[in-house]
Amino acid sequence: MKDQKKELAAAIAGALENFEEDKVAQLIETPPDSAMGDYAFPCFKLAAVYHKAPQKIAEELAEKLRGNGAFADVKNVNAYVNFFMNRADVGGSVIGDVIAEGDDYGKSDVGGGRPVIVEFSSPNIAKPFHIGHIRSTVIGASLAKIYKALGYDVIRINHLGDYGTQFGKMIVAYRKWGNEEDVKREPIKTLLGYYVKFHEEAEKDPSLDDEARATFTKLENGEKEEVEIWQWFREESLKEFSRVYDMLGIEFDSYAGESFYSDKMPRVEKMLEDKGLLQESEGAQIVDLSDYDMPPALIKKKDGSTLYITRDITAAIYRKETYDFYRNIYVVASQQNLHFKQLFKIIELMGYDWANQCIHVPFGMVSLEDGTMSTRKGKVVFLIDVLNKSVEKTREIIAEKNVPEELLDKTAHDVGIGAVIFQELSNNRIKDYTFSWDKVLNFDGETGPYVQYTHARCSSVLRKAGREADELLAGNITPDMSKLTGDVVYELIKAMGRFPDVVLEAGEKYEPSIITRHITDIAELFNKFYHDEHILVEDRDERLAKLAVTAATKQTIKNGLALLGIAAPDRM
Ligand code: ARG
Repeated sequence: MKDQKKELAAAIAGALENFEEDKVAQLIETPPDSAMGDYAFPCFKLAAVYHKAPQKIAEELAEKLRGNGAFADVKNVNAYVNFFMNRADVGGSVIGDVIAEGDDYGKSDVGGGRPVIVEFSSPNIAKPFHIGHIRSTVIGASLAKIYKALGYDVIRINHLGDYGTQFGKMIVAYRKWGNEEDVKREPIKTLLGYYVKFHEEAEKDPSLDDEARATFTKLENGEKEEVEIWQWFREESLKEFSRVYDMLGIEFDSYAGESFYSDKMPRVEKMLEDKGLLQESEGAQIVDLSDYDMPPALIKKKDGSTLYITRDITAAIYRKETYDFYRNIYVVASQQNLHFKQLFKIIELMGYDWANQCIHVPFGMVSLEDGTMSTRKGKVVFLIDVLNKSVEKTREIIAEKNVPEELLDKTAHDVGIGAVIFQELSNNRIKDYTFSWDKVLNFDGETGPYVQYTHARCSSVLRKAGREADELLAGNITPDMSKLTGDVVYELIKAMGRFPDVVLEAGEKYEPSIITRHITDIAELFNKFYHDEHILVEDRDERLAKLAVTAATKQTIKNGLALLGIAAPDRM
């Protein structure tokens, strides 16, 4: 489809004088409805060049191009020239590409192997992996896949929140009210209990906060006892996080979290000082950002302890030195917008020209139906419980369908997990949303199960076709697409043809929802086609053309789901 647009631009430029192909290509539009043509060329911008009314230019241009055999029809409407392509040619080329490229369809090498860091998930140690973390986790995992498909060398980093004053609180609470057996038996829930208890008690007795701060300083200074407890909390937490990642099929290349940078911060503080960026304020060290309408960034507290942003500045420099990234992407909630603005500004002020290669990809908050989530009050929904419940419910639903017994567990897993991921990704990234069980487990509409079901439907048709389908997929038969030029199937073919551009756009905009929407459209178009027409008809040519469309649909949906991190079961 891409080459087609280029050929069209060349044809138009050839019919015009003094108007380059590149400029033509930029003006070409895709009408929302195929009835208005496959492409439209508006002539408004040409009026100044030719000193003629745009309508007149369009009329003459249409006249000139009408004889061109590349187009089925060329129409002039007002200042537009509308182009109708030869549907059979378009079909042949799109279907041919999809089948020939298979799992690679949609991939490209625009990235040229340049390194891109995608930092995502980054939960806090010794705290629950709750539903609020799911967005960073699934959006980040999907962006990593999209960038890989675009030919970048992707490094997936989990910037674990494994450092900071909260560990002072946790250790104090453990010593005062905790015991080892409870932590071992049920680590995260127990640790969360300590955290909640600490805040309740600290409200009555503020001296606990001082104790927590002093304990964290001991940890930062590497004192044996504190370090040991901290390491133990970290290990138990990581075990719990891994269960979630395993379920989601997510992997990381690095777990370099906040603590990783503790010995690298002094160098960075020195750099900030040498550049004259550090200022003293009430005993603390800050970077003044008032020239940029931002509050000051606190780099070091009065007691010498470092802060979240200090570790982030250090991490960014470390990443540049280690990976020489082309892009350093942070998938983090929009609540932290200011933090990232400050961070990137400080990096710029330090004189690093790569500050603009650091990108914050924000997303809206998840809240519960009865109010916001609050770790401090212990009001959380655990992600692992959500995933398990979704799989369980799915199992009940599909047990009544014709999924073979031995595939039941795997299918329930693929569909249950897919439902949760798809719903997260299809929500507009920036908007806040309310988590609702009903919506997650609703298997109709723009949902993962609907798209997966369409894929399984295609598989089932191909299974029934048997050898003929195999031959088509092997490329031994080239279907004659002139048998299949109806409106619905033509829309479907065009949507499949746009898939590589959709992947590119999703990457450029950091928006996996562009892919969820596109494959939902493809699924809807296929289902319309499936209901309108009988696929395994008597006429061999027609049957082969329909099977080819089915095979290409299955492949495109599968590739789209893969970029979202969702499996494509063959039976549902
Ligand atoms: N651990 C943080 C949280 O749960 C997110 C970390 C974001 N990444 C970063 N480089 N600051 O809120």
